[in-house]
Amino acid sequence: MAVTRFSVSLEKELLEELDSFAESNGFANRSQALRHLIEKNIVEEKWQCNNVVAGAIVMIYDHHKKDIDSKSNDIQHDYFDVILSSQHYHLSHEICLEIIAVRGQASRLTELSDKLIGIKGIKHGKLVMSKST
Ligand code: NI
Repeated sequence: MAVTRFSVSLEKELLEELDSFAESNGFANRSQALRHLIEKNIVEEKWQCNNVVAGAIVMIYDHHKKDIDSKSNDIQHDYFDVILSSQHYHLSHEICLEIIAVRGQASRLTELSDKLIGIKGIKHGKLVMSKST
C-alpha cells in the first residue's frame, strides 16, 4: 500500500509517551506505533455499530467482594442471546478469572461488557472483539 508522509506536532510529554509506548510494545519506530494507535481507535469506533462480531470478555475479580458473582450472573442472563459460553477459573483463594465468549451486534456486546466490567469490585476487565464474517 502506498504510504503518505505528513508531519505531526505534539507536546514534548505526549511525544515521550508515544516513544515509551512504541518501545514497550516492540514497535520499530514512531510511524508504526502511530499507525497501530490510529487503526485501533478507528476499528473500535466501527464496533459501536450493528455489525455482528465475535469476541471475549475477560474479567479478574475477588469473589469475596460484594455479590460480584450474583450480579454478574444476573447480567449474563439478560444477555443470554449473545453469550456462547463462559469459563471460570479460581486463580487463588480469592481471585477469579472469568472468560465469556460472545457473539452478536457490536453495540450489544459493548453494552454487556460495560455492565459487567462496571460491577463494583471488578479489578480488571476487557472486551476483545473481532469480525466474525
Ligand atoms: Ni472463582
